[in-house]
This record gives sequence, structure tokens and C-alpha cells, in this order.
Amino acid sequence: MRPLSIFATAWTLSFAAAQTFQRLGGCPDLGCVFPPDQADFLPGQYFDIRLEVHSPVNGSEARVGEPDSDFKFTIAKKGGHSVSAAKYFKVEEPELERWNFTWYEDLFAQDANQPSLVNVTAKAYRRVALYEPGEYEATLTYYGHKKTVANWLVRDMPTKRRAKNVILFVGDGMTTNMITAARLMAHRSINGKYMTKMALDKFPILGHQMTHSMDSFITDSANSATALYSGHKTTVNALNVYVDSSSDPFDDPKFENIVEVFRRRNPDGGVGIVSTAFLADATPAGLAAHTSDRGEYDHVISAYYEGLKDYEWTDWKGPDVLLGAGAENFLKSEDAPRAYYDLFSEKGYNVAWNNTALENAPNDEKLLGVFQTSNLETWLDRNVYQSNLLNQSNYPDGSGRDADDLPGLKDMTLKAIDVLHERHSDDGFFLMSEAASIDKQMHTLDYDRSLGELLELDDTVRATIEKLESLGELEETLIVVTADHGHGFDVTGSVDTDYLDAQDDDRDKRNAVGYYQNSGLSQYTVGGPKSLRYSEGVHFPARWDPRYTLHAGVVAFPDHRENYQVHSEGPRTPAVAAKDKKNGYYVNYKDAVTGFLINGTLPVSADQGVHSLTDVPVFAKGPCQELFGGVYNSIDVFFHMAECLGLAQTSKGHGGK
Ligand SMILES: *[C@@H]1O[C@H](CO)[C@@H](O)[C@H](O)[C@H]1NC(C)=O
Ligand SMILES: *[C@@H]1O[C@H](CO)[C@@H](O)[C@H](O)[C@H]1NC(C)=O
Ligand SMILES: *[C@@H]1O[C@H](CO)[C@@H](O)[C@H](O)[C@H]1NC(C)=O
Ligand SMILES: *[C@@H]1O[C@H](CO)[C@@H](O)[C@H](O)[C@H]1NC(C)=O
Ligand SMILES: *[C@@H]1O[C@H](CO)[C@@H](O)[C@H](O)[C@H]1NC(C)=O
Ligand SMILES: *[C@@H]1O[C@H](CO)[C@@H](O)[C@H](O)[C@H]1NC(C)=O
Ligand SMILES: [Zn+2]
Repeated sequence: MRPLSIFATAWTLSFAAAQTFQRLGGCPDLGCVFPPDQADFLPGQYFDIRLEVHSPVNGSEARVGEPDSDFKFTIAKKGGHSVSAAKYFKVEEPELERWNFTWYEDLFAQDANQPSLVNVTAKAYRRVALYEPGEYEATLTYYGHKKTVANWLVRDMPTKRRAKNVILFVGDGMTTNMITAARLMAHRSINGKYMTKMALDKFPILGHQMTHSMDSFITDSANSATALYSGHKTTVNALNVYVDSSSDPFDDPKFENIVEVFRRRNPDGGVGIVSTAFLADATPAGLAAHTSDRGEYDHVISAYYEGLKDYEWTDWKGPDVLLGAGAENFLKSEDAPRAYYDLFSEKGYNVAWNNTALENAPNDEKLLGVFQTSNLETWLDRNVYQSNLLNQSNYPDGSGRDADDLPGLKDMTLKAIDVLHERHSDDGFFLMSEAASIDKQMHTLDYDRSLGELLELDDTVRATIEKLESLGELEETLIVVTADHGHGFDVTGSVDTDYLDAQDDDRDKRNAVGYYQNSGLSQYTVGGPKSLRYSEGVHFPARWDPRYTLHAGVVAFPDHRENYQVHSEGPRTPAVAAKDKKNGYYVNYKDAVTGFLINGTLPVSADQGVHSLTDVPVFAKGPCQELFGGVYNSIDVFFHMAECLGLAQTSKGHGGK
């Protein structure tokens, strides 16, 4: 054991360095090394190194003296000699860069508008790689004798490829609690036993991943997509880069993601990206973009189209299939000056704007499918409350028509598999398919729509397994279903909505909630077409508006009203801007007229719920499935998929291109 005194000192130091307002996340002192301490690498994975030395001009850390323009950086393999990074990687010593930035040290400083100013000297080593597995020590020496040490691990893993294909399903924001609730709504039970199972329930392997980010314990979808796809944890809003302190969103240190490594090692391998979100959104974007700002939508679309321009680490051919929504980022606009549909067509893509065109697209050609503006309409609106699709002016050509021939996640995913299988029957493929609105509808407290998306994901997984079987690819395909983070959702009983609606007083309305023995049984599986009730195969609720609904909620929310009834007239808007803007968001009375008021717990600037701390499940089936059992970190999903695809490259000349 370490002597207690040293332990105590270390604790004090790290406490001081890890405030919720940070000078720079991942930087333990005035010297910063990215990739930071504890970073893991796939052998041969390309990455950049960013070094920064901070010279705080004022604030609590202010120092006197010039910024350091003569810092040193060395690399040593454990037990070996330290050599300068330039020598180690056989690259030229990069030029010194200088900038400054400001940050607030805490809420008081923010209220008083008293930012602290920091001068910075920096360097970046671009596109290097570590091939030999083992532990490395990267040491920045600055201000003469001060040191920041980053311990890096190049993981030792087999290089033999075990899976021909990998399909990764991401249920954005999906937790075990949501799966449990969705099962209750869609699968009939008798005396406490389910008569049918979800597709996820049938997976042989269940694991459990921790989603924390590098510098905050709650993550967003950009940061967590990066962990799942690249094996590096980063900062909220960042895609496949560590975030440096410069204002440029494109100069941050990058690292290769799984499809970049896969394509570099297997130039004839296929790549597919499917999402129910707008395609510039974080979870699909994480397979192409490299930026500290997920809001750089034009960068995202251009990265799908042509990879990283002027950045020689991959001969990017673009995905074979790219299917989703968000037409506004493909049309000509001030934000996206290039007319992307034309550019993609010129590059050999068929462009589909509706489900009929998706179905009819040839499987042997590249395919871009953009089916509407914004996010794809939810499963519930597309399948049950279809009048909500009218008058949306969301056709993806920008003409202002309605998009009324929409595919769902299942249609898009199965088509993507057809194209990838047809085009890459020898070399295999990587496909990511995202059920994005589990998260988006959770944010707006629209639990019915969110769980409808989750059931659509489950139905898609079931159909995917059948499809792979019919193509003779099932045995060679690793299927992983996981989430990028959770929301604090659960169900605690049922609500008698007739009783609730009949009461006038908010406190009386709460008596409609039945818990423990009064929760009763799920009413969602009763009624509706008889054919749905026991069928193996399609499982969605028989009805969405039973008298006894779920008493469902999340742990953090804005002011809102709750009536525990499906919003049949369209997605929820729980809170709206107060008339006096500085008062933030208030309850939207119209959202749940018959319900009762629930005062918010989040800052009044939040109009939605937020992500939560929970670990999330990982379901795995196929070659390497055993790697996914147990409790591990989000980055391990990347390492396990990479191992299964045999992507480790343990020497420079070997195996790669
Ligand atoms: C630090 O200096 C900047 C620029 O002069 C100034 O705007 C800021 O208020 C100062 N902050 C503090 C904490 O003194
Ligand atoms: C910070 O940098 C600015 C130039 O950007 C320079 O004028 C100033 O002297 C520097 N401050 C310190 C304390 O070095
Ligand atoms: C910060 O850097 C900018 C240039 O990047 C410079 O114009 C500005 O004067 C600097 N501010 C300070 C307070 O040093
Ligand atoms: C679907 O797309 C095709 C090709 O753009 C078009 O010809 C057809 O009219 C569209 N159908 C609908 C229902 O919008
Ligand atoms: C759609 O708009 C038309 C005319 O603008 C209107 O007559 C119709 O009622 C609207 N339908 C819905 C469902 O809002
Ligand atoms: C909600 O908060 C307001 C103050 O903002 C308070 O007057 C009201 O009683 C609260 N209502 C409930 C139901 O907690
Ligand atoms: Zn979210």
C-alpha cells in the first residue's frame, strides 16, 4: 500500500484540479498532454499529440513571467530510454503556437463576469502511431523542471480477424429501465410471466458499460460516440478529438475511429451509417467527423462526403450507405454552402428521398437516403398517429411538401445490409444503426414516443438477425446493441387516467397513482387487433391509450405538467420560454391540461430533461460475443469490436496500407 501521506497529497491536488469549471479538461496542471494520462490505444491507431503550457495572467492561478516557449516532450516505452517525440516518431519538431483564452473559475466569477485569462504556448504532432503493445510514458517538461506525465497503454490483443461483419446498434439514451418498461407495454404476461420475449432478451451475452467522460461524469452523445467508436474518452461536444484550449474547432488533436482504421486496413471493406436523427447529429457524425464542436454540421456532412480534407491518414471513400434525416444540412444554405445531393450523385451515390426510392435503389451502388428535414418522425407518429405527419413541410428536397412516404429504422437498416452485403460479400462491412429518438423523446419527457422508438429498435434487431440468416451471414457477423448514455427514467406504478382527469385539485389528482399492489397489470397489451396479442415476431403495444397507464418519470426535469397519457396530437413540449426571457422556462400548460403541475429540478434555463449517470447495457451475439460480458468501460466496446475485426497493427510495415 502507498503511504497515506502521499495518498492524501495526491487527493488534494486532484481535487483542486477537477472543479466543475475547469481551465481545460484533462489537463492536471499548467502543462497539458493530449492524449492525456490513462489513454488507451489500438496498436497502430493514428493519433495527434497536443501539448499546451498555460500561463495564467490573472485569477487564482496567476503567475509572473513569460509563457514557456522552450518546453520539452519525451516518450519512453516502459523500461526503455526517453527520447524526444520528434525523434521517436521520426517527424520534424512542430512549430510553436501561441494563443490565449478565458474561463470562469466558478459560478460567482461567471455572475460577476470576471473571466480568468490564460496565455498559451503549444505544439501539435500530427498523425503518429504506436505499434508495439505495452505501457508508455509521455512526459512534458515545462517551466524548467515542472512535469506532466501521461501514462499511455497500447493494448495487447490478438491480430487475427474473427468476424467478417460488425453491426453496432446504438439505442441513444437507452437504459435497462427503459427496456423493462417497453417490454411491459409490448409483451403480454400471464401471472407474472411473459408469453414472449424481446429480441434483446434472447441475446446470449449481456455486459454493462460505464459511460463517464474524460472530464465530467455525465456525457453527451458526441463524447460517448467517440468513446464507442475510437476508444478515447473526450469532452462533451467533441467528436474524435481531444479538446484543446484554442478557439479553432478543427485544430484539436484527432484520432482515428473504427471505420477509418477498418477502411485503411481493408480498402475493400464496406461501411454503413443509419440513423433516425438528422445525419449531422453526433452519433452518426462520430463515424466521420473530427471536431471539438458537434455543432459544425457542414464539417460533418463534408466528412461523410470526402473525409478529412488535407489530412493524410486515410483514403476515405465515404460510406457505402448513409441513411437518415436532416435534409437541411444537405441543401444549399448559409451554413451548408455546398449542394450536397449533387456532390454525392456525382460521386456515384443514388439519392433516395422517400421509402419507395429507398426500396427501389439498386443494391450494388452507393446509396444516400435523406428522408426529411429535422429528425425522422417517431415510430408512434409514423404508425399510430399518422395525422401528425401532415402539414410539416419537411420533404427532403426543400420544396416545402410533406414527407409522407417515410421509412423507419427497420427499413433503413435492412436496406443498408442488402447494399453492404451485395457490394462487400468478400471483405465484410461495419454498420452502425442508431435509434436516436429514444434519447430525443426522453429529453422532452415523451415516454410513449421514446419507448416506441425502443420497440422499433428491438423489432429492427429481430429483423436484422433474420435477414443475416437468409443471406448466410449470421455466423460471421458480430451484433452489438448498446447505448451511449442513459436518462434517469423508471416506472413506479400505474395511473388511473379516468380518475385523474375527473379531479379538479392537483393534490387530489395524485391519488390516481397506484403503486405496489395497486399498480395492477399492463393494460397496453390488451385490446387492439387480436393478431398482435401472442404473435412471435412483431411486438408493439396493442393500444397506447389504456385507462391505466404507466406512472413513469425521470429524475431531473424542467417545470411541466403530467397527465400520464399518450400525446396523440404530436410530440410533447413540456416547458416554454417565460414571457420575461431572463426567467427561463416555465410549464407549458397546454402540454397536459388535465394533469398536475410538477415543479422543475433543473436550472430554469433547461427546457428539457438531461442525461444521467447510469451504466448502460451491452448485448452481444456472434463471433467474439464472449468479449462483451461483464462490467467494463465504454471505450472497451471499441477495443472489442476492433479486436474482432483484427484491426490491431503491431508493426509499421505489417498488414496495413
Ligand atoms: C483578467 O484579465 C482580463 C483581460 O484583461 C479581464 O477581462 C478579466 O476581468 C480579468 N479577470 C480577473 C479575474 O481579474
Ligand atoms: C499574454 O500574451 C499577450 C499577447 O497575446 C502579451 O501581450 C502579454 O504580455 C502576455 N502576458 C503575459 C503575462 O505574459
Ligand atoms: C489574445 O490573443 C489575441 C490574438 O489571438 C490578441 O489579439 C489579444 O490581444 C490577446 N489578448 C490578450 C489579453 O493578451
Ligand atoms: C419518391 O421519390 C421518387 C424519386 O425522387 C419520386 O419520383 C417520387 O415521386 C417520390 N414519391 C413520393 C411519394 O414522394
Ligand atoms: C393542413 O393544412 C390544410 C390547409 O393548409 C388544412 O386544411 C388542414 O386542416 C391541415 N391539416 C392538419 C392535420 O393540420
Ligand atoms: C411550484 O413552485 C412555485 C414557486 O416557484 C410555488 O409557488 C408552487 O407552490 C409550487 N408548486 C408545486 C406543486 O410544488
Ligand atoms: Zn441526449
